[in-house]
Amino acid sequence: MANNILLLAGDGVGPEVMAEVKKIIDWLNKNKKTDIEISEELVGGASYDENKTPLTDEVLYKAMDSDAVLLGAVGGPKYDKLDFAKRPERALLRLRKEMRLFANLRPAICFSELVSTSTLKPEIISDLDIMIVRELTGGVYFGEPRGIKPLENDEREGVNTHRYTSKEIIRVAKVAFDLAKKRKKLVTSVEKSNVMEAGLLWREEVEKLHSDKTYKDIKLNHMLADNCAMQLVRNPKQFDVILTDNLFGDMLSDEAAMTTGSLGMLPSASLSEKDKKGRIRSMYEPCHGSAPDIAGKSTANPIAMILSFSMALKYSLNQDDLSLDVDNAIKKVLSDGLRTPDIMEEGKRKVSTAEMGSAILEKLK
Ligand code: IPM
Ligand code: MG
Repeated sequence: MANNILLLAGDGVGPEVMAEVKKIIDWLNKNKKTDIEISEELVGGASYDENKTPLTDEVLYKAMDSDAVLLGAVGGPKYDKLDFAKRPERALLRLRKEMRLFANLRPAICFSELVSTSTLKPEIISDLDIMIVRELTGGVYFGEPRGIKPLENDEREGVNTHRYTSKEIIRVAKVAFDLAKKRKKLVTSVEKSNVMEAGLLWREEVEKLHSDKTYKDIKLNHMLADNCAMQLVRNPKQFDVILTDNLFGDMLSDEAAMTTGSLGMLPSASLSEKDKKGRIRSMYEPCHGSAPDIAGKSTANPIAMILSFSMALKYSLNQDDLSLDVDNAIKKVLSDGLRTPDIMEEGKRKVSTAEMGSAILEKLK
């Protein structure tokens, strides 16, 4: 049976990088390597322009019914003045919340071909391979009460609530431990248990889960978030799987991206729990944003988007081998010296978004 994939290209460079994934899916389908039925819908600012909302219910239901969602990027300066509820980012947050995508996997892998494009020294990042597991449907992003309220004397107060239950902590910690089993068997759990009760609960629940015999082959370290931020640039290779909450995960994953040379290289997968039939809901997106400054110039790096599709092959379509083929095609193109501007170096060949996508496709053939 065909797999249904919903493409939500979104705003800015989103449609440009998504076009490259479409080329790849077309070819894979024609050559019977996949049987993917794609449909496309508007999201973010693009949806707001058309429907006055960043995400229609119809698109949300379609996302929930699909085998996987691929999302480009949302947002742009044009929408900055809109009400919070109408902003493009709300579409992303609503999709995450309603699809219950609590586990966000953000691998930071440094391709050996790109060691010198990072601002960090090559010996610090060569062969780096970290997996950040970010909790995605809880914490301060969604906690109630929230809002801006008037106080006396023309003062105002902005409120957000950082809140986690044991259940929310345990289910995401399980994902991290299970991933570590197939990797270097080390989990670093990151919070601020020295100042936040929710952080203390996080540490205690992760510790308790770890003492379960299922995970006795995994080593668990606890680290405070500020220290983790420092350690990521000091010695990132000390990490294997980093387990953390929604807000710290947002920041630490951007930081980790720079260890790979460019934010344009970092994919992500957001996964739900299994339903009764063993199916998961899932959404795949590059970690970079809509990059309005370069939108429409065909200079965006499509690799994070293509790597996100590769994660979809692995985690939602059970096509691990094909996922590896896509990753290898990217590696080959990089070692041939092709570079989009964000990863450009002297002596390499500067290419456009479309040229990069086509070159990767050629290597797949
Ligand atoms: C991310 C982004 C989002 C987040 C924004 C666009 C809402 O920064 O996916 O990392 O903060 O989660
Ligand atoms: Mg972010």
